[in-house]
Amino acid sequence: MSKTLQNDLLIRAALSQSTERPPVWMMRQAGRFMPEYWEIKNKYSFLEMCKTPEIAADVTMLPVDLLDIDAAILFSDILVTGEAMGGELSFEQGVGPRFGNPVRTQADVDRLETDCLDKLQYVADAIRVIQERLAGRIPLIVFAGAPFTILSYLVEGGSSKDFKRTKLMLNNEPALAHQLLQKIADVTINYLNMQIDAGVNAVQLFDSWALALSWNDYREFAHYYNKYILDNIKRTVPVISFCKGSSVFAPIMAEANPDVVSIDWNADLKNIKQTLPAGIAVQGNLDPFVLYADKQVIERKILELFERMRGENGFIFNLGHGIMPDIPFDNVKHAINVVKGFRY
Ligand code: CP3
Repeated sequence: MSKTLQNDLLIRAALSQSTERPPVWMMRQAGRFMPEYWEIKNKYSFLEMCKTPEIAADVTMLPVDLLDIDAAILFSDILVTGEAMGGELSFEQGVGPRFGNPVRTQADVDRLETDCLDKLQYVADAIRVIQERLAGRIPLIVFAGAPFTILSYLVEGGSSKDFKRTKLMLNNEPALAHQLLQKIADVTINYLNMQIDAGVNAVQLFDSWALALSWNDYREFAHYYNKYILDNIKRTVPVISFCKGSSVFAPIMAEANPDVVSIDWNADLKNIKQTLPAGIAVQGNLDPFVLYADKQVIERKILELFERMRGENGFIFNLGHGIMPDIPFDNVKHAINVVKGFRY
């Protein structure tokens, strides 16, 4: 697939090949910091947008057309797997995601379906529309939520600051947690394989809230299932593994054998890369809050990172986490122009 791409910088960097400059894309690039996003969002609910392939494609294309970015990421959400399994998912303005029927008991876990790929067909449809529109210009990244992070939303019934109920389940009822994680992992494998079959160019696994876990719990409740997923999906496209906490967990993440580990902004990216096995690329790791700052500051911080990474193959520029909704569009555009103007 990458052979037919006009701009394959992301694929080459993901495969640790040399590139003339780092490729750039940004987590949450298809979102609320763009006025054009709101023009669409004001007409539809978030889930309607995700589930209508033409609209999902429109939103996916916004940063492609307006930011001239090096990769598109499918407009969707990590929680759609939880919904397909039976979670009553809603997104409310100012509240964030909610599951109306939290999963807390054995009966709740038993009720969750694993044979639910038919409910996610809209994603394969969206991928086909997007690939037609991209016409090989840049790669399309798709994604799934990692089992631990999806478990946390199912158990808490939404976002959480402290993951109290989640940790209570891991500590008091580890066997139940493992059953739930296994079910999510099986759905995730089918879901990612469906997306790979639909013709995507790269995959990112989001384990956003792994940061909450201790080293041993990360290994037992997160890493084990992420590795199981990476071992069981079709490895025909590069796989990026992301979590908040990756500056701590990167060595374990590498054991799951992703092509790329995405690093949060707490760590020195070069030091992390040099501790990883050869052939594993890194993605990151600008603090997204830098994008609120003056343009000269944005430029200086990006160039400092690039200076630090000079001579390293296998580097994809991204933020350490997603773009915040109130970051000025012009600042994001400026950051991308800085990257695109850079040459090693
Ligand atoms: O990156 C992209 O542009 C692609 C689309 C994308 C969204 N969510 C769109 C979205 C992706 C890759 C995600 C992943 C996602 N969703 C994650 C992992 C990434 C991360 O940030 O760690 C998580 C944890 C979620 C769960 C989720 N979805 C939350 C917590 C929220 C609310 C966020 C908030 O700040 O209020 C969402 C909603 C969501 N997902 C929006 C978008 C554009 C906002 C929807 C709206 O317009 O109201």
